[in-house]
Amino acid sequence: MTAVTAPTREAFRPAMHYASKDTWLNDPNGLIYYEGNYHLYYQNNPFGNVWGNMSWGHATSTNLITWTEQPVAIACDEYEDIFSGSVVYDQHNTSGLGDGTVAPLVAIYTSAYKENSQHAGIQAQSLAWSTDGGYTWSKYHGNPVLNRSSANFRDPKVFRYNGPAGAYWVMVAVEALDFTVVMYRSDDLKSWDYLSSFGPANATGGVWECPDLFPLPLDGNEDLIRWVLTVNLNPGGPNGGSAGQYFVGEFDGVTFRSETTVTEGDQDPARLTEYHWLDWGRDYYAAVSFSNVPDGRRLMMAWMNNWQYGNDIPTSPWRSPMSLVREVSLVTSEGTPHLTQQAVIDPAALTRTVAYTELDVDGIRSVAGGGAVQLIEVTFVPGSADEFGLVIRGNGNEGTRIGIRPGDGRLLVDRTVSGNTAFHGAFSSIDTAPLRAMDGAYSLRIFVDHCSVEIFAQDGEVTLTELIFPDPSGTGVSLYTSGGTAKVASLRLTTLA
Ligand code: FRU
Repeated sequence: MTAVTAPTREAFRPAMHYASKDTWLNDPNGLIYYEGNYHLYYQNNPFGNVWGNMSWGHATSTNLITWTEQPVAIACDEYEDIFSGSVVYDQHNTSGLGDGTVAPLVAIYTSAYKENSQHAGIQAQSLAWSTDGGYTWSKYHGNPVLNRSSANFRDPKVFRYNGPAGAYWVMVAVEALDFTVVMYRSDDLKSWDYLSSFGPANATGGVWECPDLFPLPLDGNEDLIRWVLTVNLNPGGPNGGSAGQYFVGEFDGVTFRSETTVTEGDQDPARLTEYHWLDWGRDYYAAVSFSNVPDGRRLMMAWMNNWQYGNDIPTSPWRSPMSLVREVSLVTSEGTPHLTQQAVIDPAALTRTVAYTELDVDGIRSVAGGGAVQLIEVTFVPGSADEFGLVIRGNGNEGTRIGIRPGDGRLLVDRTVSGNTAFHGAFSSIDTAPLRAMDGAYSLRIFVDHCSVEIFAQDGEVTLTELIFPDPSGTGVSLYTSGGTAKVASLRLTTLA
């Protein structure tokens, strides 16, 4: 008899996702490229591995895959917690916070004021600056710089607008309980004038948090610029709990007008699946984009967890990974603009590959080449089966099922027997996303890590991201059909670590 080894908690530490050494993290903050480094600041509890003592942790990377943890960047104190926000490169020192020789990086964050503060109970926007490339930060003495006397005004994302209306800084932030994105403008990052607001619209089943607004060419055409407004909401995602939605439209420097609003005002529960979701899985939240990225690439990253069970996931001493970084683009599909997403990966990591073509599947068929950390690329052609797909991270007792039901037009992830699901009653689930055939086939790119699976379906038009906590022995991959046959046109399994 072979002994079944219980997973050691550290076994879940991701190989190709960021997690802090021994502390809690949530939202990515202040994502920026600056002088050869990508900076990831994040909501961090420097003193524990559950939410609290919110400060900005910090990590850096040159390739967006491997990250080096740095000392805490902006720490909470007796007056305020440092909630989510962004960082801009103030190249022309509009803020005057530079030291005369070096232009500053300026962080715009939410001060969540504590009882000791004269602003107790208020959330307002504050500044900190760095003139050493983002490693050490000073708080601005005039904080807060934007106060609406609101208890739920947070998560400022600031960018440089340069268009027909002029050149200035724009802030998008939320009035979380009102399902409203509020927009302000500034010339110096210190004094802000109200521009407009957007919402409620589409999904309003929770609070709105962590917005972003950025331009992208439609279908690669630089003459067809559209603006994408992303808004995270919690709870109220399409499969429960935290999730991110987006709107596509026009921004004239003052007002955002959506072309993709399905419901104005309160959401229509029956239409939840018609809204545009950044990701359909349970574990992709607080997604936000990087500033100052070379070549105009739009890169996004999210917290790979869900507030429903986030504080309870069975990892130790750290808790919560970030998602992979994704490059997003805008394409017209079925007459409306949609985001497509591709994971940023290091081509040098794509070494040991096992490839198959033209496999007939009728029932269960295991394949060699599985692993705990890998990229699985598969194209299915439907046959008579009403469902087909793969089981990954399998060991005979458990596995995560990734299936396609062509009749219903659904992609599904079943993590009910994926490993440890008992740590929280809301974790075990079968989650689905809409999926349509393209040229009669379904293609999936699946990134598997020690505690996650990120699926990019049909060229990244649909993504579905989920945490899983399998036994380390679960490295098997098998193909399956139910109720008939299907064909695998191609399958590549590439070991990533
Ligand atoms: C989103 C969020 C933000 C807030 C931060 C606090 O996950 O609730 O709205 O700024 O987390 O940690």
